[in-house]
Amino acid sequence: MLTNEEKRVIVYTDASQPTVSSEVTPETPLEDLSLNWRERDLPEKERTKHVHRLHPYLGKFIPQLVEVFLRKYFLPGQTMLDPFCGSGTALVQANEQGINSTGCDVSAFNALLCRAKTVHYDHAKLRREVLDILERTRIRTHTNVHQLLLWPDEQSFRPISETDDRYLNTWFAPQALNELLTYRALIETGGYEYQDLLKVILSRSARSARLTTHFDLDFPKRPQTEPYWCYKHSRECYPTTEAFKFIERYSLDTLRRVQEFAARRTNAWVTIYHADSREVIFPPIDGIITSPPYVGLIDYHEQHAYAYHLLGLDDKREKEIGPAVNGSSQKAQRQYQQDIATVFNRVMERMAGGGRLVVVANDRAHLYPEIANLIGVETEGIVQRHVNRRTGRRSSEFYESIFIWRKR
Ligand SMILES: C[S@@+](CC[C@H](N)C(=O)[O-])C[C@H]1O[C@@H](n2cnc3c(N)ncnc32)[C@H](O)[C@@H]1O
Repeated sequence: MLTNEEKRVIVYTDASQPTVSSEVTPETPLEDLSLNWRERDLPEKERTKHVHRLHPYLGKFIPQLVEVFLRKYFLPGQTMLDPFCGSGTALVQANEQGINSTGCDVSAFNALLCRAKTVHYDHAKLRREVLDILERTRIRTHTNVHQLLLWPDEQSFRPISETDDRYLNTWFAPQALNELLTYRALIETGGYEYQDLLKVILSRSARSARLTTHFDLDFPKRPQTEPYWCYKHSRECYPTTEAFKFIERYSLDTLRRVQEFAARRTNAWVTIYHADSREVIFPPIDGIITSPPYVGLIDYHEQHAYAYHLLGLDDKREKEIGPAVNGSSQKAQRQYQQDIATVFNRVMERMAGGGRLVVVANDRAHLYPEIANLIGVETEGIVQRHVNRRTGRRSSEFYESIFIWRKR
């Protein structure tokens, strides 16, 4: 049931004239926005342009949606905060538009991914490093002892194929593990400057090289060691036994994507915190654009379990707000509202009156009106966006709400 306040401000956007995000200005009325983009309006290639597809991440918002609200509510030189920055979509878009940004995420992998996407690179050096580690991994894993004699630097090298980590031993075939561990050892010892980006390449390769089916890469339940019927390819498929082919493919793809972003990026600064947003003192900001975790939906650390095991990242999963493991009971929902309110109260201390909070949520349990009450903001609009996703077995259809709140 909608409250009278919600009925007053709700805006259902119309699909007939899809908004072109780059044409939005501060004067564009909310009512004129049409954010129900269909595949033909906003093809996957556009939604995953340049660094937005450096690594898979479940639950990100689309860059064009962020762009619309950055253009409407921020000016170049101002500062935007995303206290739940995830894979960094808002930070990357803000930078493209000359807007400074601060991001925070409790997941070390997400913070790493954000840094790798937004840091400035010396491209010639980056290219040298990515190709060098690739070649050294190839030599160490695809040549025999006699051939190794051809590379004087590699003669003292001994194959690395063993680890004590049970997860890694369970989820990877021996050859794949050998290739991943070799690459990892080279990141540690190779003297490379751009280690974050190399770790992203390694993690993306590990994700593809797990012993899993092609149609269940998000949350596979048990290792797949036998051939299986594949829903994605409509044929019998085999679990992969190697990782190097992925490392090679993603190395080249990463170089291309980073280069593409370099042509569009600005000198606006980006600061990233790896922390619980309930505990950080943020710098002053002009406004917020964010999509918070939702109650009982996704375990964000678990989503990238392979990266935590391979890279030895700091695990703060007990600090996640609304994790799936805690379910979505009434009690979990009340706790969730308190936690999200704590974050927003905290960040609003760093923002002047009149500043906007743009919050994207698929609020099925109707929890956000109460959050707005708890933090005492004025609701300026609630834009309802129809999302019709048709990606294989994850196809779904739902309304996403964009809450536009104003600090009083
Ligand atoms: C819906 S996702 C954000 C996705 C992001 N908009 C993007 O496009 O990639 C929510 C994020 O909140 C993070 N998160 C959960 N609890 C947190 C906390 N206490 N402090 C900071 N971040 C948290 C999760 O790790 C997750 O990355």
